[in-house]
Amino acid sequence: MTAIVVVGAQWGDEGKGKVVDYLAGSFDYVARCQGGHNAGHTVIFNGRRFVLQLTPCGILRPDKQAVIGAGVVVDPAALVAELEQLTQAGIDVDGRLHLSNRAHLIFPYHRLLDKLAEAALGEAKIGTTSRGIGPAYEDKMARRGLRVCDLLDPESFRTKLARVVKEKSAFCEAAFRERLDTAGLAEQYLALGERLRGFVTDTSALLDRALREGRRVLFEGAQGTMLDIDHGTYPYVTSSNATVGGACTGLGIAPTRITGVIGVTKAYTTRVGSGPFPTEMPDLEARQVRDRGNEYGAVTGRPRRCGWLDLVILRYAVMINGIDSLVVTKLDVFDTQPEIQVCVGYSYRGTPLEEMPAEAEKLAQVQPRYRTLRGWQAATSGIRELHRLPQAARDYLNFISDELGVEIGMISTGPEREATIVPEGTRLASWL
Ligand code: GDP
Ligand code: IMO
Ligand code: MG
Repeated sequence: MTAIVVVGAQWGDEGKGKVVDYLAGSFDYVARCQGGHNAGHTVIFNGRRFVLQLTPCGILRPDKQAVIGAGVVVDPAALVAELEQLTQAGIDVDGRLHLSNRAHLIFPYHRLLDKLAEAALGEAKIGTTSRGIGPAYEDKMARRGLRVCDLLDPESFRTKLARVVKEKSAFCEAAFRERLDTAGLAEQYLALGERLRGFVTDTSALLDRALREGRRVLFEGAQGTMLDIDHGTYPYVTSSNATVGGACTGLGIAPTRITGVIGVTKAYTTRVGSGPFPTEMPDLEARQVRDRGNEYGAVTGRPRRCGWLDLVILRYAVMINGIDSLVVTKLDVFDTQPEIQVCVGYSYRGTPLEEMPAEAEKLAQVQPRYRTLRGWQAATSGIRELHRLPQAARDYLNFISDELGVEIGMISTGPEREATIVPEGTRLASWL
């Protein structure tokens, strides 16, 4: 049995899309377990570029099955639009996409509430993607959410939606003096439901059958460890478990069936949205990395904040997720960098910290301790064999691996599928 989870080890956008697309070549199923269309996973192959938000990256390979699990929050309009784009691009999704009947739905009032809540926070805003992700998960936890299965039963859907809308309207009016416009909403959603009906199934049972038949399953995490609702930099997080546990709950897969965990990190760190970021670079340096790394949100186009690699965060990610193998992406972005800083520890008010602080305020005040490593100042872009990397680049990778006590199972040297190094003899290589 092979069931491998891919998680982001930082604040998202680590290059999971590129990595999952590469790995998918060796798997039968690729499954999304959490998050929604706040995710933007970029895949580039044969000169074509895709940014997938809800559909697992495996959909881009014609012989693969793609699963959207119960833990995902689905905006049916966004999903239908994405499927249309895929179809227009010549990707046939029929018979290959499976949508959980238990996945919760995002409604326009979730998007509205997301925006209103952010506006009300002012300076303290989270910087969400304004897709309604948080409010949809709130409703799920409050046990008033509507699910994909509800979409397929018009009468009960109308009743349930009317109940929720009544409550939402009262809340919007009282809290924000905002009127909800829900005219035609039920019929619009039921029509979307009809478009999706053919994909809907019990995805836990589907994956259980697949695993028992010896099929290989890859779990595509969205967001990243530091955005996890429980273990991230709360409250500057997303509203789902972006760490490995999210794969189990989100897909109804027992932890005992997971055979390996891959963490993805950039050669540096980025973050979109607000919240503490200890190794954030000063403006000028950040701009250089942002330009070279094209660090703009795949979904929102927002400039990403840039900083040095933070081994404290990666150590934490290794612990929380039990990462067996680390993928380092965007090595090529440092090709012209004379010196590279790596954060090896934090101090708080002059005292070294042993653990990740729980308080965002405290994390915002830590002083990173850096080690300076030599840059390689040579082109690594597109390199596919480890021995062809400059010695200083290999030193950098070895330093990361030694500090974390985890192998580096893959190195990405460009956004394209082929710009990938898989060193021999690693655990990751054994899963391909
Ligand atoms: P994800 O959300 O983790 O899938 O990452 P995103 O797709 O949001 O952002 C990663 C960006 O980096 C995308 O534009 C990728 O095409 C790009 N990318 C991925 N790997 C590499 C790499 O090794 N080098 C460079 N230069 N770009 C990369
Ligand atoms: P992928 O899967 C980077 C961030 C937002 C914001 C916070 C909460 O592409 O790595 P939300 O809309 O989820 O309520 O926003 O989380 N965020 C991401 N940052 N990559 C993502 O996904 C993200 N999804 C959410 O910027 O700070
Ligand atoms: Mg992204």
